[in-house]
Amino acid sequence: MICELLHVHKSFVNNQSAIRREVLTDISLSLAKGQAMSIVGPSGSGKSTLLHILGLLDTPTSGTVMFDGNDMAHHSVNQLARIRNQQIGFVFQSHHLLPQLNLLENILLPTLPLEDKTLKKSARGRAKELLDLVGMADKIRQFPGQLSGGECQRAAVVRALINQPKLILADEPTGSLDEASAQQIGQLLSDLNHQNNVAMIVVTHSLKLANMIGQVHFLEGGVLTTK
Ligand SMILES: Nc1ncnc2c1ncn2[C@@H]1O[C@H](COP(=O)(O)OP(=O)(O)OP(=O)(O)O)[C@@H](O)[C@H]1O
Ligand SMILES: [Mg+2]
Repeated sequence: MICELLHVHKSFVNNQSAIRREVLTDISLSLAKGQAMSIVGPSGSGKSTLLHILGLLDTPTSGTVMFDGNDMAHHSVNQLARIRNQQIGFVFQSHHLLPQLNLLENILLPTLPLEDKTLKKSARGRAKELLDLVGMADKIRQFPGQLSGGECQRAAVVRALINQPKLILADEPTGSLDEASAQQIGQLLSDLNHQNNVAMIVVTHSLKLANMIGQVHFLEGGVLTTK
């Protein structure tokens, strides 16, 4: 399994009322290498919280988080950061490209902390190949402000892939896009899953995208169910 949650609970304490509310209740899920799944659910149902836990950006209140067969509870902050940087690619609703860097520089950002010299050296070539794959080879020196929303989002997917992660976590990757650009991103993610065998979990409000990606899961009332 690339990632696995066992009986995960997550609760937050409200700053004002001091009341603790459980957002995730006894969530167990597993994702095999190269597998894809999508998660849909109402606003506030805990989808992003779940994705943050899966992406090792947050920890559960109780329960176990496994990545690539290892229990993450035994890892230091630095080890977790390394796994996040090298094995997981994140795509968010807004692209988070830095406006002062051109596309190539933005895409190469996640390669800066890499210790693997071969992977680092080949990054420029990989960035160009990936940009070509998403039809943006001619935009390599453009700045984010000179690109459309859909183009920025495609670049964000490329950036998520630059370190050849085993897992992609996408939170509303098409939320800010029109129908045609959303379709393109959905197709791109689906192709990456089928052709490059990258595992992925995609959170979305769009049932169309959810069905395109893989098995659809519903998160509601803190509970995850399969269609
Ligand atoms: N750091 C936090 N501290 C307190 N409460 C939080 C925190 N993060 C999330 N929550 C609460 O947990 C609940 C779930 O939030 P989450 O962002 O996971 O929902 P979501 O399903 O992603 O919603 P949306 O579809 O609107 O993005 C919300 O009620 C939110 O207020
Ligand atoms: Mg969210």
